Amino acid sequence: MLMLRFYNFKTLSSTNDKAKELAKKGQSNLVVIAEKQKKGRGRFGRNWSSEPGGLYMTILLKEKNIDNLMYLTFIAAVSVAKTIKKLSKLDAKVKWPNDVLINDKKVCGILTETICGNENYALVGIGANINQQKINKSISNKAISLKIITNKDYNIKTMLKSTIREFNNLYLHYKNKNYKKLINIWKKYSHTLGRNVKAKTLSGVYIGKAIDVDNNCNLILRLNNGKVKKIVEGDIFVV
Ligand code: BTN
Repeated sequence: MLMLRFYNFKTLSSTNDKAKELAKKGQSNLVVIAEKQKKGRGRFGRNWSSEPGGLYMTILLKEKNIDNLMYLTFIAAVSVAKTIKKLSKLDAKVKWPNDVLINDKKVCGILTETICGNENYALVGIGANINQQKINKSISNKAISLKIITNKDYNIKTMLKSTIREFNNLYLHYKNKNYKKLINIWKKYSHTLGRNVKAKTLSGVYIGKAIDVDNNCNLILRLNNGKVKKIVEGDIFVV
């Protein structure tokens, strides 16, 4: 069982950056939480809109082995999906590699980063749209909040606690290297598998059916020409 300390802030530039600062001072096994972020970041250096009402947190862990960190992203996404299901009864699903969706729209993104050196650290940043009344116009066709869907407010602290509890349970499998179990759990919540998708990666665009996730958390596509393609990074669009 992970014993985590909680650091709460009203405003931060980014909870991931604050967690990095703490890691550089040798601290770990903690959670940084902010009510809003001025420079919330997403994958590929994208902006993450961080208005009050959302859940913005980073779990900082000291990890000997940093080869399998994609699992931490999977664990975080499933933890949020389970929490949303439990507290709102909505059908939350996980989208490869790092999103949680409801009704095909994004409610949560995960940004896992690392610090490597004498000691290695993993920073699992979680941003979830909970009580926001409105979603930025530029992303409102693909993102949504729990409040917009259900017209209810949620207790952010309860969401946070539940997410951490679920994370802790799944993290045990990670520590025990029970990766197969984690993949199977992820698959139960998967939005991606079985769908025809377009994968935009650094090496090109691939269109095919998402047929599996391998034991390194890579997405396996069956391309339209019948070949199998392993997707290691990138963005997935349902086609
Ligand atoms: C993505 O979908 O690209 C990932 C978004 C991750 C956003 C969270 S909010 C808390 C933490 N701090 C950040 O600056 N980013 C992550």
